[in-house]
Amino acid sequence: MKEKIAPRTCYCGEVGEEHIGKEIQLYGWVRRTRDHGGLTFLDLADREGVVQIVFNPEENLSLHKKVKKLKSESVVGIKGIVRKRPAGTENPRISTGNIEVIGNELTAFSTPDHLPFTLDEKELTEEVRLKYRYLDIRRDEMLNRLKLRHHTTQAIRGFLSSNGFWEIETPFLTRSTPEGARDYLVPSRIYPGKFYALPQSPQLFKQLLMVGGVDKYFQIVKCFRDEDLRADRQPEFTQIDLEMSFVDEKKIMEVTENLLQHLFKKVLGKEISPPFPSFSYSECLKRYGTDRPDLRFGLEIQDFTEVFTSTSFRVFQKVLEKGNCIKGINIPQGSQLSLKEREEIIEKSRELGAEGLIWIEFKSSGVKSPIAKFLQGEEIEKLKKIGNIETGDLLILVAGEERKSLEILGGLRNFLAKKMGLVNPDELKFAWVTEFPLFEYSREEQRWITLHHPFTSPNEEDLPLLKSNPGKIRSRAYDIILNGEELGGGSIRIHQVEIQKQMFEVIGLPPAEYKEKFGFLLSALSTGAPPHGGIALGLDRLLMIMSGTDSIREVIAFPKTQRAVCLTTNSPSPVTETQLRDLHIKVRL
Ligand code: AMO
Repeated sequence: MKEKIAPRTCYCGEVGEEHIGKEIQLYGWVRRTRDHGGLTFLDLADREGVVQIVFNPEENLSLHKKVKKLKSESVVGIKGIVRKRPAGTENPRISTGNIEVIGNELTAFSTPDHLPFTLDEKELTEEVRLKYRYLDIRRDEMLNRLKLRHHTTQAIRGFLSSNGFWEIETPFLTRSTPEGARDYLVPSRIYPGKFYALPQSPQLFKQLLMVGGVDKYFQIVKCFRDEDLRADRQPEFTQIDLEMSFVDEKKIMEVTENLLQHLFKKVLGKEISPPFPSFSYSECLKRYGTDRPDLRFGLEIQDFTEVFTSTSFRVFQKVLEKGNCIKGINIPQGSQLSLKEREEIIEKSRELGAEGLIWIEFKSSGVKSPIAKFLQGEEIEKLKKIGNIETGDLLILVAGEERKSLEILGGLRNFLAKKMGLVNPDELKFAWVTEFPLFEYSREEQRWITLHHPFTSPNEEDLPLLKSNPGKIRSRAYDIILNGEELGGGSIRIHQVEIQKQMFEVIGLPPAEYKEKFGFLLSALSTGAPPHGGIALGLDRLLMIMSGTDSIREVIAFPKTQRAVCLTTNSPSPVTETQLRDLHIKVRL
């Protein structure tokens, strides 16, 4: 017999004063029941919220007995009349807190016989949550995050579509695209020994769409990368990917800023105000020690090398003799940090690779520091000037090779801000980083590699250096940063076939190899390619920040663990011998 499902009047969380006096039909999960003054109260919940149902044994004893048999998380349908709650029993914490439903019919659809955890349990491990993700999703926080995700993707589609972008799908079974990670491979059954690669991004397809004359493309698309995982990295993740023809960096940045402004306003009701500040890569490293600066706090890095040109402190002398530098961060009112906190800072600097960390405390009575006896009055004045130092401040200094010192101080900057409570979690600080080097030299691979991907256009002025000095070439790439997270990256692309060929040669691909791997791109570029460029934003990272969580796993319905496992379905998993044979694969363990 078919289960009879009467039409639902509204979701539980949507029952309101407009329903008072009316009979309504609800469906949901029994969160809890409790007896009170002869009446039974039942909290009925669905994705939109919870509503209180009241059963009176004096009016309907058999129904009351049925209710008593229900367990937490039983699935039921309830028909009842809505009434205003008696004065004094309202619950302002829930949206339905002014009303209740007098239950007069109940259908039980299923009763749980095994609940791995109750929904209000606070101390759940992530492992348990991911194993029973369906139950975890039933919790308000998770449902709200999935709702946020839904509204965000709808808003993205709405904005881009009304700005002339077409949503076009690109293949998942494709060739490798070099975004810098390992590929996930899919063996071909039809062609023994051949493999598809799952795309690390739709990069080349979106470029081909521009060659095809699409002009403005977007896609909310899954990308696959086999790389070391972190809180902000998943093996499969989603990008908001876009590409435009006949544009420059400025135009792409403007579209991106407008898109983000629209999303924050429409989905969260929050105002953000473009244009976002922009830093060149080298300025960014110098000031923040990273190309992902968190601008919600100060603590900028300063260069104090010139202060110590005639120092008598041997350690600094040696550093300067080697042509290295002395960088530091002034911590305003840092002299209030306890000894324990200072030790933690030193410990953190070691963890980040520092051999030593010098601190100088600026007191009204003078400076206090392990190197105080080496500090001349003039040097102290210079320190104060460069670091904008006031009484009560604490200066920390790292001496050594520039890049390494900056990285250490960049790490310490984030550590200090967290430790000192300088980060306002509600603040949104965007930034652009531009003028990246096109290449960096990989000692490991003994060749030039690209900082972004090899389809990124060199800065035109630097083109003559392509053969003579690749390390000095600036690229036309840009990254967008939000609160210290790399939210997205993009570039103006190479649309001239000859430059693309040279680019492949610089990264060590001989013509035979680049023709085999990227012949289709070169052929496309030689059919008349428009100048074009684009960007990809990490949707999961954006949602992580929008929802105020600290891991992208919180905004993905079925994420993988840090070890790339799907605990819900237990994958990856072995396959049968027949499947392997079909794919011409022998497993080597
Ligand atoms: P990129 O490699 O910088 O650029 O990726 C763009 C953005 O995607 C997000 N992202 C990730 N999110 C979660 N898990 C991961 N493993 C992961 N890897 C990347 C980040 C990142 O900024 N094709 C180019 C874009 C372009 O040039 O248009 C690309 O994929 O937020």
